[in-house]
Parts: sequence; structure tokens; C-alpha cells
Amino acid sequence: MGKQKNNSPDIHLNLNVRGLPLSATLAINEKCNQLRKQGRQVYKLGLGQSPFPVPQPVVDELKVNAHQKDYQAVKGLFQLREMVADYYRRSQGINHSAEDVLIGPGSKELMFLLQLVYYGDLIIPTPSWVSYAPQAHIIGRHVRWLPTQRENNWKLTAQELVAQCKHDPLKPRIVILNYPSNPSGMSYSADELKAIAKVAMKHKMILLSDEIYGELHHRGKHISIARFYPEGTIISGGLSKWCGAGGWRLGTFTFPPSLRWLLDAMASVASETFTATSAPIQYAAVRSFKGGIKIENYLWNCRIILRRLARNIVAKLKEAGVAVSEPDGAFYLFPDFSPLREKLNKKKINSSLELADKLLEETGVAILPGVSFGRPENELTARLAYVDFDGVRAISAADQVKSEKEINDEFLETYCGNTLTAIDILCKWLK
Ligand SMILES: Cc1ncc(COP(=O)(O)O)c(C=O)c1O
Repeated sequence: MGKQKNNSPDIHLNLNVRGLPLSATLAINEKCNQLRKQGRQVYKLGLGQSPFPVPQPVVDELKVNAHQKDYQAVKGLFQLREMVADYYRRSQGINHSAEDVLIGPGSKELMFLLQLVYYGDLIIPTPSWVSYAPQAHIIGRHVRWLPTQRENNWKLTAQELVAQCKHDPLKPRIVILNYPSNPSGMSYSADELKAIAKVAMKHKMILLSDEIYGELHHRGKHISIARFYPEGTIISGGLSKWCGAGGWRLGTFTFPPSLRWLLDAMASVASETFTATSAPIQYAAVRSFKGGIKIENYLWNCRIILRRLARNIVAKLKEAGVAVSEPDGAFYLFPDFSPLREKLNKKKINSSLELADKLLEETGVAILPGVSFGRPENELTARLAYVDFDGVRAISAADQVKSEKEINDEFLETYCGNTLTAIDILCKWLK
């Protein structure tokens, strides 16, 4: 038999996409699933997904609207856009109208559209969420990483931003500020936000304020930077984190009227790509942004569980010699293992990638390496998502307590046991 002719098309990939790996968070999830299939016990502290269920009133609203089948307006269901504007008025005192809101199938997709339609550099602090920089690479934009310090809880300072603008002060730039932060859980004080806003305003930058974890500020005290630079700030939000509905795919961008040209340009591209966001999901989302006592109660429970759990874990990690601070919100920690470098070097661990790989291999505990968030390769940092527990069970137990004191270590052992076991295993491994 002769050699078979290859009739399939040759590989011709867009240069910007060649070599682009699967998003780091999704890749770790697949690796965990593979190990589980082999019968290994795996602790999933890698994927950043809310452990909590979607609040019942929002689920009920989705059921009622399952029959909604028509294509929706490209910018989103008007009722929802009104409700999102109303939500920011209530929660942040920011005066936006429905016309200023754009709805999309996840805020990630909206961020991609923004980078596509705006012609400028992307400025992000390091560490930053895993997808901002790859999106810029796909589109062919320059990315400027701004350094942060562990001592300052990995937060961007106004001075760093000033330094970036020294040459070419009015170059078009988008700065992404994400707080509470993925990967560190840290947030900014009003004064820190004011200082950053002042620099952004002076240099006419566009600020994309990624507030997807805003409602998961552990003390319910989230402040938007849009209060201090309304003319140039786009607020990014959605249902994925605080509403536990990542798989529903609904994100929101809220613009100042002065940036209507950007909203309109994004809507034009949306009309030629995703067309509109799922109709039933948009109707259900109206209920979530409406808020009310049931939603507040749900959020109170989520916040207190996350706050206490973070405190417990941080204490254990510190005792094991890891450098880490208590977070302000979300469900992440960004521990620095460099104080244990010598010990880790003996295990042949010299980079964050080796740290995450060895830990998973030897103990089944999955975390994400700091390098995925833009940190230097040989820095021994990692992101730890403390979400490996049954959130349905935990939240219904929290709902029964009479005082927040009952959400103590015993409560955490009972309802968030898997995550705490993973931390114990990690600490033992470090010894
Ligand atoms: C910081 C941050 N921004 C944005 C997103 C995207 O969220 P979605 O596309 O689900 O709205 C995520 C999700 O992991 C995130 O962590």
C-alpha cells in the first residue's frame, strides 16, 4: 500500500493566536478532572468559581422566563439596563441611566470587545487576572505591566501610574483596576482610589474598573472608583461571582455619557458577533440587580463565611511560614512562599510553576502559579481559591445561626472541611 495522501487543510493560524495556551484556570481544572478520573483525591483550589448557589428568587425568575425566546436588543433588555443603572445609583450614588449600560454574555466578552474597539495600550498591575493580557495579545495591543509590592498588598499605586505616563503623557491608554482583586482578594481604600483617579483624569486615561467581586467585599463596603473619576470610568460587573452564576454568562458594562461613542462602537461589533445575550438569563438578572431583603441576606451569609474562612486559612499559612495577608473580599489569597525558598529548593522547586506542579502531583492540592498572573517566573507566589466546599450546605447552615459568632472554626470544619483539609495538607507538605 502506498503512502496515504493527506487531504486535510494545512495549518494557517492567525499569528496573534499561535502558541496561545488554554486559559490557565481552565487548564488546571481539566488537569484536576483527569486526576480525579484516575481515582486520585484532588483538592480544587485552582478554579475561581463561587461555591454558593444562585439565590432562590433569581432561580425562580429564570424558571418563569424559560419561554422567552426572541432575540433581544443588542445592548441588552431595556428593563435590565434600567435596573443596572438603578443598582449603581443605590449602591454607589452614581447617576447613570439605562442608556449608559451595555449587557453581554459575560464581562470577559465585553472586555474583549472594549480592547478590540479602543485603539490604545493596556495598562495592568502585576499580579492581575489571567485573561486581560492574552485578550490584548489576540487583538495585537501592547501590554504594560506595572509592578506592585507584597508589602503594599499587591496594589497599584498612583506613583506607578505617574511613572508610566512620563513619556507621552496623553497616549491613549486603558488601565484595568480590579478590586476586590483576583488573585489577591485585596481592595483599595477611598484615598487610594482618589489618588489613582486623579492621575487617570490628568492623563485622560480610560479606567476599566473591574468590580465583578464588589458585592463580595467581606464587609459589604465596596467603593467604586467611578465616584472619583466619573468621566473616564467604565464599571464592569455581572452575575458570575456574587450571584454564583458563572455558567449563566451575563456581564454588564456601565459607561459615563461622555464615553457613549465607545459603548456604541462595542454594540456595533456585538451586533456582528454574539447578537445579544440570552433572553431568559437577562430577565432573571433583573431580579438579581433589584436586590431586596432576600438577596441581602444571601450576601450577608456568603460574606461572613468567606471572611471567617479566609481568616482561618491566613492564620494557618502564616504559622507555616508563608507571607500572606487577610483579604478584603472575593475568595482568593495570593500567598508568597519565598520565606520558605531554601526548603522548597531542596524539593527542586525554583519557580511558581514548579511549586504548583509538585504540590498537585505530591498532595492533590491544586493552586495556580503566580506566573499566570504576570509575576516573575522564579517568584514563589501562587493563587489559592478557597472554594472547595459545598456552598449549598454551608449557606443553608449559615442561614440558621442566631448570631455571627456561631460562624466559628467549628462551623468552618463542619461545612468547609474540604478546603481546610487542603490547607492542612499544604502546610504539612511545607514542613
Ligand atoms: C477579575 C475577573 N474579571 C472578570 C471575570 C470574568 O467574568 P465573567 O466573564 O464570568 O463575567 C473574572 C472571572 O473569573 C474575573 O475573575
